[in-house]
Amino acid sequence: MSRSEATGPEDPDGTGIDLSTELCGIPLENPVLNGSGTFDALAARKAFGDVLVSEFPFAGFVSKTITVEPRAGNPPHRLWETPSGMINSIGLPNPGLAAFCEGDLGELSELPVPLIVSVMADSAEGFAELVEAVGGRAGVAGLELNVSCPNVHSGLIVGEQPDEITALVRTLRPLTGLPLIVKLTPNVANPERVAVAAEAAGADAVSLVNTLKATAIDPDNNRAWLGAGGGGLSGPAIRPVALAQVRAVAAAVSIPVVGMGGVSDGESALEFILAGARVVAVGTENFRNPRAGQVVREGLPDALQRRGFGSLAEAQASTLS
Ligand code: SIN
Repeated sequence: MSRSEATGPEDPDGTGIDLSTELCGIPLENPVLNGSGTFDALAARKAFGDVLVSEFPFAGFVSKTITVEPRAGNPPHRLWETPSGMINSIGLPNPGLAAFCEGDLGELSELPVPLIVSVMADSAEGFAELVEAVGGRAGVAGLELNVSCPNVHSGLIVGEQPDEITALVRTLRPLTGLPLIVKLTPNVANPERVAVAAEAAGADAVSLVNTLKATAIDPDNNRAWLGAGGGGLSGPAIRPVALAQVRAVAAAVSIPVVGMGGVSDGESALEFILAGARVVAVGTENFRNPRAGQVVREGLPDALQRRGFGSLAEAQASTLS
C-alpha cells in the first residue's frame, strides 16, 4: 500500500490534527490538490484578486494539460451536467509549450504552493520535448503525464496499454530528476496493471481516476449534446468507481497514489485516503465552488477526529479490513 509518514507538526487550522504530508518528496501542508484542468488559478486570481493567492485553496497546484503545439479544444457544447456529476468534452485547449513557458508558467510558479505541470503528447518524442522543456524550468516541482484524456484519441490509447506505459515512462525517466506522476484512465478493466507497469518503468506516483467515457443525448434533435459526440464523466456520480480503482491500484503498487473522482468534502477525501490514496485531488466540485479545496481541507480534521485518527498520517497508515 502507498502510505507515508507526516513530514512535521503542521496544524494551520489549530485543530490539533496534523494534515501535513508529502508526495514523491514534495512537501505539502495538507493532502488536497486540484485535478488538472479543473481550476484555472490565473483566471481565478483575476476574478477574485490576490486573496486567491494568499488563501490558495490547494496544497499543491496541478496545471491544465500542456501539449507541444497549441490546441483550440473541441467544438461546443463542451460541458454537460448530469445527476451528481458532469461530462466534459473540453479537448485539452492550451497555448502550446512555447507560449506556456513564456507566459503562464512564470505566474504559476509564483503561487504559494508546489507546482505540478500536466503534459500530454501523441508520441514519445512529443512527451520527451515537454518533459525536457518544462522539467528544466525553475519553480516546477513535478510533472503529471496525462495518458488518459478521453477527449483526445491518442492520449487514451497509451493509458490503456501497460506495454505502452512501460515504453513511455522508460523513455522519459532519464530526462528529468523531477517526480513523474502518471495519470491513469478508469476506462480499462484492470487499471492496476497499468499502474504496476508505470511503477516498474520508474514513475514516482500515479493519479486516478481521469474521467469515465460518457455521452449525453438530445432526443429532440436525435443527436449527441456534446460537440465531440461524447466526453468524460466526473463528480460524485463516479466516486464509488474511483474508490474501487484507487483501492485496487494502491494495493498493487508501492508508489504513492493521488486519488480523485468526486472528492467534494472532508468525508469523501477521507474515503480516498482510507482506500489507499496518499493525497486527493478535487476536480468537478471546483466548478460549483472555487473554494472547494479549502472546504475539503477544512472538513478533514473533523472527519479524521470522528474516526479516532490523531493525524492524517495515522489514516494514511491504516489498512482497510
Ligand atoms: C479535456 O481537456 O478534454 C479534459 C482533460 C482530461 O480529461 O485529461
